[in-house]
Parts: sequence; structure tokens; C-alpha cells
Amino acid sequence: MPRHFLRDDDVTPAEQAALLDLADRLKVDPLGTKALAGRTVAAIFEKNSTRTRFSFEVGISQLGGHPVIVDGRSMQLGREETIEDTSRVLSRYVDAVVWRTFAQKRIDSMATVASIPIVNALTDEFHPCQALTDLMTIRERKGKLAGLTLSYLGDGANNMAHSLLLAGCTAGMNVRVVSPEGFRPDPQVVLDAERRAAETGGSAALCTDPHEAVEGADVLVTDTWTSMGQENDGLDRVGPFRALQVNSALLKRAADEAIVLHCLPAHRGWEITDEVLDGPASAVWDEAENRLHAQKALLVWLFGQSGR
Ligand code: CP
Ligand code: NVA
Repeated sequence: MPRHFLRDDDVTPAEQAALLDLADRLKVDPLGTKALAGRTVAAIFEKNSTRTRFSFEVGISQLGGHPVIVDGRSMQLGREETIEDTSRVLSRYVDAVVWRTFAQKRIDSMATVASIPIVNALTDEFHPCQALTDLMTIRERKGKLAGLTLSYLGDGANNMAHSLLLAGCTAGMNVRVVSPEGFRPDPQVVLDAERRAAETGGSAALCTDPHEAVEGADVLVTDTWTSMGQENDGLDRVGPFRALQVNSALLKRAADEAIVLHCLPAHRGWEITDEVLDGPASAVWDEAENRLHAQKALLVWLFGQSGR
């Protein structure tokens, strides 16, 4: 049976730590392994992408593999071929599929019938490659993860909030999510994160006051208030979020030496100010770079796990 990476808790705490160790090693020696030699990886995008697309294409090439990057909107999948039939066919051609799509249930359907590893490159509900990268970036700056406090400010119901809850608790972190009413995380995801936290000593907390939420935090994370696909959902995605902007005043309440992450693209002047994004606390460019190393580690590890 192939291993998949569809959500952050598809890996155990020990597996997550091993992945991060491997990512660190690959960062130091980017061309040191050709673990994907002779393998082909399809990366399919049904939504826009800059970082994910480039980092997977470059990473697969560096590992000696062959990337096939496709706009999913141009595939038969975008007309009427089922996800399952697409998955069966792709399993005969390529060695893994990386997919950016809409509902999580779409990628679950892909994985159910696939005989090759399937990787979530962002769904409406989760963005596990980004959260793994965020952990790598935090560990690089802080030397550890367990026991640190990460405060996420913004849309608590989006993919980043959900993934950081699961990934952070898997790493033994204390994850706080502050979001407006109506934009709180999926209660099931919070339960899953709490279950992980019980194993690792971490915690998951939902907050309403941004000042309290960032008090003493080691890491502040934000993300767009309007995720891809939500542009016309009729909700006010500005007014209720204004108080959650990551700016210098809010950053002052965090721990000394706190760092700031944003998966990007950033909407400067909305969820984050220029001053913070371009300031000394910002780790966003390292974070963007680390997509490459974390995803290479993930692919190498998945092939190893799947005995392929
Ligand atoms: N952070 C991230 O996933 O960026 P892209 O949408 O550019 O891939
Ligand atoms: N929450 C954002 C992340 C972009 C990388 C979105 O889904 O659009």
C-alpha cells in the first residue's frame, strides 16, 4: 500500500521529526541524492500557484526525477472524467501525484484508488506541505519545536489554520488560533489536533482577543483573509479581520525574538504590514525557500515508505 500525505496528521510525531531532519540534510546538500532517478512525478494544479509549482518542479529535478506539471483545468478531469478513473490511469504512468485542488474529499477520492503516493499541494481544508515547511523554518530559527507557542491570526477555517493546528500539535507546540466569529476552525480538526497534542505535550487553543493570543508567542503566523476560491462567497472578509492584522504594535506583545511567518502570497497592508513583512522578525523568505527542501524530503521519504 502506498503512503500518502493528504493531511498533516498522516505522519506520526516521530515520522514528522524524521522528515524535518531529512529536509535539513537536503538543504545542506541539495544535489547530494538522486533518490528519484528514473521516476516521474505529476504535479497537477487546479488553482494558481507560484511557490508550490516551482519548488516541486525544481525539487523533483534536483532529485534526478522527471516532473510533469499540468494545469488540471486542461485535463479531462476538468470536463467529466471521474477523479477515481483519473487516478487509476495516472497510477499506470507516473510514480507519484502532487495535486492542488478544491475540497479535501477530491484528493481523498484520488488516494483511495491510487497505487502510488498522493501528495496534497493545497486543498480548501489543508496545506500540509506548507505547514511542514513552516515547522522546518521555526526549528531552523529556534532550534526546537516542542514547547514553543505559535499564534495564527486570520481565517481560522482555512487550510493554513487547519494544517498548523495539526502539524504544530504533532510537533508538541502550543498552537493558538485567533479568528473572527464565523471563521473559526472546523471543530473536528480541533479535536484531531487535541488528540495529537495529548500524545506530544502540545496544545490547541481558540482565541478571540488578538492581544491575548500573541502574548509571549514565539511565532506569529498569518495568511490571506480571502483564500483561493472564496473571492465571491459573499462574506465580509475585511471588516471582522482588521483587528487581526500583524503589525508592529501586535508584534511587540509577542516574545522577544519572536519570528513571523506567512505562506505567501501576502496582501501587504491587509493581513500584514510592510514594516513587519520586511522587518527583522520576518522569516518569510527562508520559509519560501524551505518549501523546496521540505518537499524533496517528503518525496524521498514517501517513496521509501511505499517500498517503491
Ligand atoms: N504558499 C504557497 O502555497 O504559495 P503558492 O500558492 O504560490 O504555491
Ligand atoms: N489560504 C491560502 C493559501 C495560499 C497558499 C489560499 O488557500 O488561497
